[in-house]
Amino acid sequence: MRTYLVTGGAGFIGSNYIHYMLKKYQDEIRIINVDKLTYAGNLENLKGVEGRGNYTFIKADICDSGAIRRIFAEYDIDRVVHFAAESHVDRSIRDPEVFVKTNVLGTLVMLNAAKEAWELPDGTFKEGKKFLHVSTDEVYGSLEDENAYFYETTPYDPHSPYSASKASSDMLVKSYMDTYRFPANITNCSNNYGPYQFPEKLIPLIIHNALQGRKLPVYGDGKNVRDWLYVEDHAKGIDMVQEKGRLFETYNIGGHNEKQNIQIIHIILDTLQEMLPEEDPRRELVSEGLITYVEDRKGHDRRYAIAPDKIKAEIGWYPETKFEDGIRRTIQWFFEHEEWMKNVTSGDYQKYYEEMYCGK
Ligand code: NAD
Ligand code: TYD
Repeated sequence: MRTYLVTGGAGFIGSNYIHYMLKKYQDEIRIINVDKLTYAGNLENLKGVEGRGNYTFIKADICDSGAIRRIFAEYDIDRVVHFAAESHVDRSIRDPEVFVKTNVLGTLVMLNAAKEAWELPDGTFKEGKKFLHVSTDEVYGSLEDENAYFYETTPYDPHSPYSASKASSDMLVKSYMDTYRFPANITNCSNNYGPYQFPEKLIPLIIHNALQGRKLPVYGDGKNVRDWLYVEDHAKGIDMVQEKGRLFETYNIGGHNEKQNIQIIHIILDTLQEMLPEEDPRRELVSEGLITYVEDRKGHDRRYAIAPDKIKAEIGWYPETKFEDGIRRTIQWFFEHEEWMKNVTSGDYQKYYEEMYCGK
């Protein structure tokens, strides 16, 4: 049975990936989820898989090399899928240090532990071992020309402390591939949306605030463009890269779905109006009047857009979910998970670990 070590599996994309993988492979794989449970880690995201014999959660910090080495010693890890990171640009502007610690040093710890466990005496690596580093398109910087796209060959030009820390982590992974022929891939993905996303990011924040009749903050002129990808498509892309991709390669994963932030907000408001039942009192609250232009984000990148040509040509992956469908599914999920949102916004989700794992 193949064993996956997933870091950051209690976060947004990591938890969606774990659900995707356990649904697809059922009992054919085993998943070890290693997460520090920062404010962004929520074990309630994984309620559906807890108790399965082939799923194990371990609370650990990826910067703690002793703890990570012990995990490699205890389990014969075949695949690493490395999601764990500090992921929010606004937080990185306020407090860059933890971004460097987790995203750069934490990645180095993961690389060293995997290298140590997988390397043979002759300097080659055990058959079939693979490390996938999950990164972002933000490492490529900002596109000013509206016909330009990010390709795997686009030079790195990060602007925020977040993207600079992710770019640094990518460079470390590249250096391990180049220096040691360490068996890895890097994926650089565009903005994700979908179930379990923490409401500090644009889409869940707008859905949550609109349903409560709270202001919808728009940074700057609202015309910054992001390329939105449904999270399940990302999970599928990661799996396909590990299964079919060429080792040592980078693959960009993008939605081909560019939208200005203000367009996203209007789509969410319209979709909420359409989906809320006639008698639901929240219909009164959801209104364009909530849109509030606020001070721009410092160093705000204007446009991100990925051309996912390479992954399509080599691996056959493409973004399957149309935005109209993905946003409806996401809104429906939030309708059905009011308790999840309540726990997240009140902070109660952090008690879940204590209750479930009794401080183990
Ligand atoms: P997230 O913030 O929702 O989750 C991050 C997870 O990592 C949390 O569970 C957190 O507890 C854990 N974590 C943080 N620091 C840790 C540490 N020191 N040790 C162990 N665990 C730690 O993030 P996300 O949106 O799910 O993003 C996952 C990955 O995908 C990140 O590497 C991010 O850079 C990348 N990415 C995200 C997006 C996006 O749109 N969200 C797009 C492209 C790439
Ligand atoms: P975000 O979801 O934070 O992702 P990222 O910064 O990694 O792309 O933000 C998406 C876009 O939405 C970005 O251009 C900033 C903007 N934004 C707002 O206008 N208002 C908000 O409240 C937030 C959180 C983001």
